[in-house]
Amino acid sequence: MKHILVTGGSGLLAQQFKTITARDFNFFFPSRAEFDLTNSSLMAQRLEELKPHIVINTAAYNLVDRCEIERELSWSVNATAPQTLAELCAERNISLVHYGTDYVFDGAKQSLYTEWDTANPLNHYAAGKFAGEQAVLRASPQHLVLRPSWVFDWHPTQTKTYIHTVLKAAREGRTLKSTTDQCSVPTFATDLAQWTLELIRQKAGGLFHAVNDDGISRFDWTKIILEEAVTAGLLAHAPPVEPVLSSFFNSAMRRPNYTVLSNAKLAKVLGHNLGSWKGGLRKMLAQMK
Ligand SMILES: NC(=O)c1ccc[n+]([C@@H]2O[C@H](COP(=O)([O-])OP(=O)(O)OC[C@H]3O[C@@H](n4cnc5c(N)ncnc54)[C@H](OP(=O)(O)O)[C@@H]3O)[C@@H](O)[C@H]2O)c1
Repeated sequence: MKHILVTGGSGLLAQQFKTITARDFNFFFPSRAEFDLTNSSLMAQRLEELKPHIVINTAAYNLVDRCEIERELSWSVNATAPQTLAELCAERNISLVHYGTDYVFDGAKQSLYTEWDTANPLNHYAAGKFAGEQAVLRASPQHLVLRPSWVFDWHPTQTKTYIHTVLKAAREGRTLKSTTDQCSVPTFATDLAQWTLELIRQKAGGLFHAVNDDGISRFDWTKIILEEAVTAGLLAHAPPVEPVLSSFFNSAMRRPNYTVLSNAKLAKVLGHNLGSWKGGLRKMLAQMK
């Protein structure tokens, strides 16, 4: 039986580890106060007390726009803390699993990004996340970094996913505008949690792009969410969606507009396809009902 400490216990991905039944793993989820990523001596003390075999770090500062304002705080959570945690784990022969982001790329490639493509973060969130994942990979060859994108799933209290935003706007009768030039891959957090455990069982280390199959534009993703919500009985009808370009939103912050990641490396190591996000979307909408 392997003991796994999961950070960020109240978050979306951590929630999926709470619902998984795995006979070979015993999970524990210290609260933020018990395992604060910005407190290195506290983390060291907890690792000594709890003696996990593996740490899964789902904690992060994910408010991309706020990162530009809370620059120091977001950097300390997304860049400095993963480095400290990775070093603390390496010193104790604990494997660390950490999550990066598709935002490490600038989008210029306009075709599938692999693990060997060069990163070029465009904003402070992306730069912090890139620094964090690289520090984790440097600290030990047994550490794992998974890069997901557009993560979604059901959560008992969290209602901040893009799916929630779309459904709320539709229910309030607001006109939905969605970008046709922004493309990525929706990733079902339940799948991401399962792939993580499969990699741990294989004692894999290194960097993996961890997304479902089928890249899609934000516009098409929005339309599919609405159609599936009607089928699930969450909406009476799907309102029209107006296609716009990213420039329409006139954001001061730069974001990559194409971050479709190739999941071929992960699929090869796991020995199976990673599957579409469609099944996950239907499961989430059924749970929301
Ligand atoms: N969601 C996405 O679309 C997406 C896309 C690409 C990559 N990722 C990456 O995937 C991973 C999991 O994301 P997620 O969606 O599960 O994130 P999430 O729902 O935002 O959860 C992050 C958790 O981190 C906790 N946290 C923040 N600062 C902390 C600190 N100093 N000490 C301890 N805990 C702290 C938060 O606690 P509070 O609840 O108290 O704030 C929250 O529970 C992250 O590395 C994220 O960057 C996510």
